[in-house]
Amino acid sequence: MINILMVCLGNICRSPLAEGILKSKLPKTLFFVDSAGTSNYHIGELPDIRSIAIAKKYNIDITNQRGRQFVVSDFDTFDYIYVMDTSNLQNIVKLARNSDDISKVKLILKELSDFTICDVPDPYYGGDHGFQNVFELLELASNTIAHKLL
Ligand code: 4NP
Repeated sequence: MINILMVCLGNICRSPLAEGILKSKLPKTLFFVDSAGTSNYHIGELPDIRSIAIAKKYNIDITNQRGRQFVVSDFDTFDYIYVMDTSNLQNIVKLARNSDDISKVKLILKELSDFTICDVPDPYYGGDHGFQNVFELLELASNTIAHKLL
């Protein structure tokens, strides 16, 4: 089994989408995909209603997900830890115990061949257009990740 973790701040907007999109591209028998937030703001909550809606538009159901906070043992559980932005990266690297932990962590948009933006923009305080943009970025990055791993 290959274990992949998607990380953002709240684990209600971006990383639940990243989890749902990548899961839809990989066989469940070989890959475990999960998500977490660096904060404790939304533990136990459903994804944001706008993330649920944009996923549903593309036939992906993320309503089984509940918010959780990243824990240090996630470095042991997961082979790849994809963070949505540079702030998430800093927060996760602070929790790393050694260089092995750090080597697992990567900005998800670094997977794009034309890596011009580093951060999946935080859509929480914006409108629906932000969620469409996030979905499209994560769809592109997930295609590359799935292509590499399959
Ligand atoms: P996410 O978005 O990190 O993509 O889940 C956010 C969700 C909640 C908050 C910030 C960002 N918040 O401040 O509550």
